[in-house]
Amino acid sequence: MACWKPIPNACWLVLVALAGCDGPQSALQPAGKAAEKIAVLFWWMLGGGAVVWITVVLLALYAVRTHATSGDRRIRTWIIGGGAVVPTIVLSGLLVGSLPMLPELLDPPPEDSLAIEVRAKMWWWRVRYLGPNNPGSEPIELANEIRLPVGEPVEFKLAADDVIHAFWVPSLGGKVDMIPGRVTRLKLEPTKVGVFRGACAEYCGASHSLMNFDVIVMERADFDAWLQKQSEPAIEPTAASAIRGGQLFLKNGCHACHSIRGTEARGVIGPDLTHVGSRHSLAAGALKNEHADFVKWISNPKAIKPGVKMPRFGMLTDEDLESIAAYLESLK
Ligand code: CUA
Repeated sequence: MACWKPIPNACWLVLVALAGCDGPQSALQPAGKAAEKIAVLFWWMLGGGAVVWITVVLLALYAVRTHATSGDRRIRTWIIGGGAVVPTIVLSGLLVGSLPMLPELLDPPPEDSLAIEVRAKMWWWRVRYLGPNNPGSEPIELANEIRLPVGEPVEFKLAADDVIHAFWVPSLGGKVDMIPGRVTRLKLEPTKVGVFRGACAEYCGASHSLMNFDVIVMERADFDAWLQKQSEPAIEPTAASAIRGGQLFLKNGCHACHSIRGTEARGVIGPDLTHVGSRHSLAAGALKNEHADFVKWISNPKAIKPGVKMPRFGMLTDEDLESIAAYLESLK
């Protein structure tokens, strides 16, 4: 983009603003069918808005330069033309052009599509894989991570348990509110393999900005292998520290809130931890999935995520924290 001399600062501002439109959470780099439509709509709306804006600014400059007065008939024609006729034509065109996109976005996916239930919590996401991949069996549950096969429509059933949240994966599609007591539906169809970021798009309390999730789009075969692994019970720890961590996990009551399938831990308040060690991030994107961050999280969750329900267990020694972290990390 060529920056002209009189206003180089304005050009830099535009460049800086556009740089913010890049990355794994950008609606302007679509990787899903709905997002592609939304991006097309955005550029048309931007173009239409620019036409209206430029027309009005040019007319204003013209009026200033010619010292026009409102009694002038020529001027009245310009005001009606630029202030009413042009905007009406442009905005009507945009409305007519965009309405046909709506049914395609709202059409339900085919019956045999993969269905995923996502329940928003303060401040994390409970994710459950329903049929048809696991007909008749228990839904496969995980947290703060969604994996999808590329090129297939998926139906999301979205709900909230406490306050209103909103589900948004900008690279894949539009945002949808999650309202306690209701199930809202959203169809997404990823078109590119990759890792994308999802976020809560409705202010929901102190840690609203700390509830993010990763959406990993994979080839079908990789996805099937992953889902199969997720359906299995947790692996038994082998290292001494991790074995001790597993015992401490049960002894200190962590299992009252968390489930680890294949063990005595059957809590339903907090996230399922069966394969927590294999996830992309920790604490809904607030931390990395690595040993030091596991320790940091368990030792004082409220320092990382204000208002979180998980308490600090002050009685645990540093060695205990290290062991529990080693155990959770081993749950690949
Ligand atoms: Cu949940 Cu904002």
